[in-house]
Amino acid sequence: MKNILLGITGSIAAYKAAYLVRLFVKNDYNVKVIMTESATEFISPLTLSTLSKNKVFVEFSENGEWHSHVELGLWADIFLIAPATANTISKMNNGIADNLLLTTYLSARCPVIIAPAMDLDMWQHASTQNNVKQLKDVDVDVISVSKGELASGLIGEGRMAEPEDILLYVEDKFTQNKTLLGKKILITAGPTHEKLDPVRFIGNRSTGKMGIALAEECLGRGAEVTIVLGPVSIPVPSKARIINVESAEQMANAVFDNMSEQNIFIMAAAVADYTPQSISDVKIKKSDDDLSLKLKRTIDIAKVLGRKKSQNQIMIGFALETDSELLNAKEKLAKKNFDMIVLNSLNDKGAGFGHDTNKVTIISSKDNKISNYELKSKKKVAKDILDELQVILS
Ligand code: CTP
Repeated sequence: MKNILLGITGSIAAYKAAYLVRLFVKNDYNVKVIMTESATEFISPLTLSTLSKNKVFVEFSENGEWHSHVELGLWADIFLIAPATANTISKMNNGIADNLLLTTYLSARCPVIIAPAMDLDMWQHASTQNNVKQLKDVDVDVISVSKGELASGLIGEGRMAEPEDILLYVEDKFTQNKTLLGKKILITAGPTHEKLDPVRFIGNRSTGKMGIALAEECLGRGAEVTIVLGPVSIPVPSKARIINVESAEQMANAVFDNMSEQNIFIMAAAVADYTPQSISDVKIKKSDDDLSLKLKRTIDIAKVLGRKKSQNQIMIGFALETDSELLNAKEKLAKKNFDMIVLNSLNDKGAGFGHDTNKVTIISSKDNKISNYELKSKKKVAKDILDELQVILS
């Protein structure tokens, strides 16, 4: 069952939200509702909680209990804001987060759809049109307003789309672009921590953002996703199966234990190439002398997988380079038997570890095609990578 998070803002069209919730529930969707304070003046939260069979959220906290906007955003498969007022649309476009609905919008990772409702002059105003355009540019879907008699008595554009049309739009969105339906995808993500003693480890700066963005995009396209995840501190998609690991050895075991049923592997983890030769059971004490560490090689997961995988299992690799980037990436593509490699250079500003953006070059082994991409959000980079994957699958 799909989860719809319905945001309701303060417009007279809010009364239609009751019918909308009933339609979603009748069509087997789970519905949770967030309302702005002013929406509660148009329709009662009690009506909506009764219809949705779920608690309705208005405040950031209630009776000392915190309502997590992050959790609501992660729960949702689609965040629909209907009706969306000019005020909320403007705040969304400007990153203003002064109520629970807006903070949820800023942290939501699922597709966001708005169904605007307002008076015709407000709708036509250049500020509103500009806000709508900019929201479309960041991938917010806007359900067109319809023409008709408005609450003000004026006649024109500004009416919220009818609930039946909104349901059709949402259903369409769920089936659109499900190009990875039926595919099982395993993604390695994050760093590994190689233990030295009970309190110390050798690690790296990977945050797992690129791997998680890929997992979300794969889920959005209908795939069944397993993430073998090193130690990270970012939220993970609730729809994915997560296998938490720490070391390169644990990551390798998790990958090989789950390899046979997978169709596609995406090796986005920054795996340590070396690990301490021995782990001290007790905390290593300092002395006046310098300390040398003896390290041994870890297993190259991608390389072993490249040998073990069957002909119809596809593997995508990553290369993070500082020099001779293209040459090194091409070598890795061949050496590890990748079907495609995603190269990012640490020389590019905004690319690599920690950033929310990345700039990649994708090389496909099929035809040795090299595609250069601009600096963009990791979410958009994930889309580019999966679009290239689609070419291999076709
Ligand atoms: N990789 C892996 N297991 C390892 C090391 C790397 O699965 N032990 C994967 C990474 O997830 C990535 C690719 O291999 O998809 C390239 O990793 P990278 O560390 O850049 O390449 P190396 O072969 O280790 O080369 P070098 O360290 O010399 O750059």
